[in-house]
Amino acid sequence: MKRILVTGGCGFIGANFVRRVLDLRPDWSIINLDALTYAGNYGNVRDLEGDRHRFVHGDIGDEELLADIFSEEGIAGVVHFAAESHVDRSILGPEAFVETNVTGTFRLLQASLESWREGKLDPDFRFLHVSTDEVYGSLGPEGLFTETTRYDPSSPYSASKAAADHFARAYHRTYGLSTIITNCSNNYGPYQFPEKLIPLMIFNIINERPLPVYGDGGNVRDWLFVEDHCDALLTVLENGRPGETYNIGGGAEKKNIEIVHIICDLMDERLDRPHGTSRKLITFVADRPGHDLRYAIDASKIEGELGWRPRHGFEDGIARTIDWYLDNMSWVEKITSGEYKRWMKENYGNRGTG
Ligand code: NAD
Ligand code: DAU
Repeated sequence: MKRILVTGGCGFIGANFVRRVLDLRPDWSIINLDALTYAGNYGNVRDLEGDRHRFVHGDIGDEELLADIFSEEGIAGVVHFAAESHVDRSILGPEAFVETNVTGTFRLLQASLESWREGKLDPDFRFLHVSTDEVYGSLGPEGLFTETTRYDPSSPYSASKAAADHFARAYHRTYGLSTIITNCSNNYGPYQFPEKLIPLMIFNIINERPLPVYGDGGNVRDWLFVEDHCDALLTVLENGRPGETYNIGGGAEKKNIEIVHIICDLMDERLDRPHGTSRKLITFVADRPGHDLRYAIDASKIEGELGWRPRHGFEDGIARTIDWYLDNMSWVEKITSGEYKRWMKENYGNRGTG
């Protein structure tokens, strides 16, 4: 049995990844380390608990806990998702982003290194650091991010991820730890916390609440269905070259306002509301400070070297996503209670899902 440690496996991408790996690799088992912050939900993986999936409730910054986990012989890989992931939150309170994304990543790298030096890890051990295209900053109307684009982060979130990337790369160059970095574009799909654009719009349409669009809605993101991201990560974990970086993207660039229009029209159909009903909820609000204009990924390296390609186009992915949320409204209600509701009310009054 090949054993890997997944951090943040109760969050959006992490939970999708855990499910995908257990499905596709019957001889693998997973240790899932997650602190269950407001964004993490044990319910996302509860049904998987058993011989092949062990949940550990804890913080990636907890050195004793990490030493305990790494005292096990033969861990074959770390797939590191755990992070504070929301840009707007990082603007309102950057410190947690430094603690988890920078210091937490450093502690995880250090624990891996110590275990590797003690000869406890599997000889083919890899540390896959899951990062973001936001480290590259903003594009103008033309061009794509490549793996050699200069780092130029704009938000405290992207600055913290950039710092973590530098540590992951440095641990390869300095100590020879087999780290690999992936920088991916915007994901969407099941289990995404409804503070992010797509699930927030779906949730607010259901509840006939305003749909806040920042600025003029002209900012562009490159959208990737989460299952395709998970497949890319599995490909990189198994076949990527240590010390390398791989960009991952969907080749599906869209302006935010286009995304919101698509969701509005699909939701009108699904909810049997007259065409145009949901678009009336669109409300242009103050822009995000430091808002990057455009992200777009050149994924030719992972495509050419490792043969990965996205399997879902945006039309297919967004339809699946909407259907998942409509079928899982009790999930949304449950996870948006408590701490999250309080935080939204304090920071946004009645605008969000609270
Ligand atoms: P998420 O916010 O949905 O989940 C983060 C998970 O990490 C949660 O389960 C949370 O409980 C856990 N966590 C947070 N702090 C922790 C800590 N100190 N110790 C242990 N666990 C902790 O995030 P996501 O959208 O699933 O993103 C996962 C990773 O992928 C992040 O590193 C993010 O930067 C990266 N990423 C996300 C996207 C995207 O579009 N969502 C795109 C590219 C890269
Ligand atoms: O590019 C990868 C990144 O994508 C990940 O690293 C981040 O973890 C993830 O959160 C995401 O960051 P974004 O800031 O791009 O995602 P978000 O869903 O917050 O916003 C998408 C776009 O929509 C962005 O231009 C801001 C805008 N927006 C967002 C919200 C929440 C709105 O117009 N209104 C909103 O209410």
